[in-house]
Amino acid sequence: MGLTYAQGMAKSSLLNRHNLMIYDKSPELILSLSKINHFDVYDDIEECLPKADVVFLAVKPYHCEELFEDIKSLMNNDQIVVSIMAGVTIKTIQEGLDLEKVVRAMPNLPAQVGKGVTSYTASSGVSRIEILMVRNLLDTTGESIKVENENFIDASTGISGSGPAYVFYFMQSMLEAALKMGFSKNDSKILVSQTFEGAVELFNQSDLSPETWMERVASKGGTTRAALDSMEDNNVKELIKDAAYAAFDRAVELGKEKKTKLTT
Ligand SMILES: NC(=O)c1ccc[n+]([C@@H]2O[C@H](COP(=O)([O-])OP(=O)(O)OC[C@H]3O[C@@H](n4cnc5c(N)ncnc54)[C@H](OP(=O)(O)O)[C@@H]3O)[C@@H](O)[C@H]2O)c1
Repeated sequence: MGLTYAQGMAKSSLLNRHNLMIYDKSPELILSLSKINHFDVYDDIEECLPKADVVFLAVKPYHCEELFEDIKSLMNNDQIVVSIMAGVTIKTIQEGLDLEKVVRAMPNLPAQVGKGVTSYTASSGVSRIEILMVRNLLDTTGESIKVENENFIDASTGISGSGPAYVFYFMQSMLEAALKMGFSKNDSKILVSQTFEGAVELFNQSDLSPETWMERVASKGGTTRAALDSMEDNNVKELIKDAAYAAFDRAVELGKEKKTKLTT
């Protein structure tokens, strides 16, 4: 995910390659990244980190304590930290690095193709201009929304962070149905992916709600009505809402587990 952001920023006109410094602790990754001419790659964090204005932290949440140990002494209070680590709170990062300016962000996988959505919130030490600068960086992978507090970061994990998997779940179900009906693998893929893409495009190009679109497709006694009735009878909408809440709850839980681990 860190590399996804780096690639988004590299492709944008915001930064030239020498303004973009990448560090990873894996020598193999550093070697392969240094062959890409999009950014400056470092194998020594002491060389790059003190020079940075904005520092993106993109390690797995369970590696954060180790990361804090590695970088704390190299950072200063003018730097802005942008963390995409799920469940790691702003307070944890401020305490772990002993600095004030932290932006916590929740991206999602379509960032890899420039169609991501990132929700973010900032500590009070980050100025409006600095927030705008961070937003421009985040937007190089798609769109972003600023949320009021960290509760909404956990909530957006349940909607957009984990959301691509819900869409894939729906796609997989339709693919399996198409295959069962006798379509080839290739034709099933075209039928399903074009249906998703077309529906999203219709939705984006209008002010209509998904509910109104559903009613437009479904006529009384028709085929779509039969499908929608079957979904309603099986409570599919409620089940999907429950799934989103399960992800939200898990994000909150992960944050608490991390906090307990750090204070014990
Ligand atoms: N993937 C997503 O869709 C997604 C969505 C939302 C949020 N996130 C968040 O994004 C973060 C990154 O996820 P990911 O899937 O991109 O993880 P990842 O593929 O494991 O990437 C993390 C990279 O950081 C390196 N690393 C670990 N400790 C380090 C240290 N102390 N110093 C420097 N580099 C270090 C890892 O090296 P090693 O492999 O050698 O450990 C690895 O190359 C996570 O916190 C996750 O919660 C991801």
